[in-house]
Amino acid sequence: MLQDIDRVLFTERQIAVMVERVGQEITRDYRDKNLLLVSVLKGSVVFMADLMRAITIPARIDFMATSSYGSGTKTSGVVKIVKDLDIPLEGYDIVLVEDILDSGKTLSYLMELLQSRGLRSIRICTLFDKPERREVEVTPTYVGSQIPDAFIVGYGLDYDEKYRNLPFVGILRPEVYE
Ligand code: IMP
Ligand code: MG
Repeated sequence: MLQDIDRVLFTERQIAVMVERVGQEITRDYRDKNLLLVSVLKGSVVFMADLMRAITIPARIDFMATSSYGSGTKTSGVVKIVKDLDIPLEGYDIVLVEDILDSGKTLSYLMELLQSRGLRSIRICTLFDKPERREVEVTPTYVGSQIPDAFIVGYGLDYDEKYRNLPFVGILRPEVYE
C-alpha cells in the first residue's frame, strides 16, 4: 500500500488532535440537546469511532450507507441509499458525520432526505473539506481540516475500496487511478 502514496498529508497524531478538537466542539454545543450521531458508511467509520469517544456527553449513534464513487475518483451525482437508518429521527438533534466533503452532492441529498423526517435539528461534521471542489451549496458546521484539491486515502478513505486501513491520511499517486 505504501508505495502508492505520494506523501503523507496528516499523521496519526495530527488526526487525533483534530478529532479531539471537533469532539470538544460538539460536546460544548450539544449539552442540552438530544444528540444522535449519524455516520455515512463506509468512509466515515474510522472517524466516527474516534469522534464518539472524544464526545463526553450522552450520544446515540446510527449508520447509513450511500452508493459511492465505484472505482472512479469523481461522484456521479446520483446518490443511492444502500442502507437506511434504524432509529426514527423524531426529536433528535442530528450530527451527520462524513469523512470528506467534495462536490457536496452526497451531503446535500442526505440533508434534504433527513430533514423531511421530523428531526429537531441537523448539522454536518466532516473530517476533511475540499471547498474548491464544491458544485452544490453545503456548509459544514464542524470541520477537521480544509484540504487542497487532491485525492486522499487512509483513515477510512478509500480508492476502489483500498487503503481504508492506513492509520494516516496520504495523497494517492495519480498513476494509481489515471
Ligand atoms: P461528494 O458528493 O462529491 O461531496 O463526495 C463525497 C464522497 O466522495 C465522500 O464521502 C467520499 O466517499 C468520496 N470522496 C471525495 N473525495 C475523496 C478523496 O479525496 N478520497 C476518497 N474519497 C473521496
Ligand atoms: Mg464516503
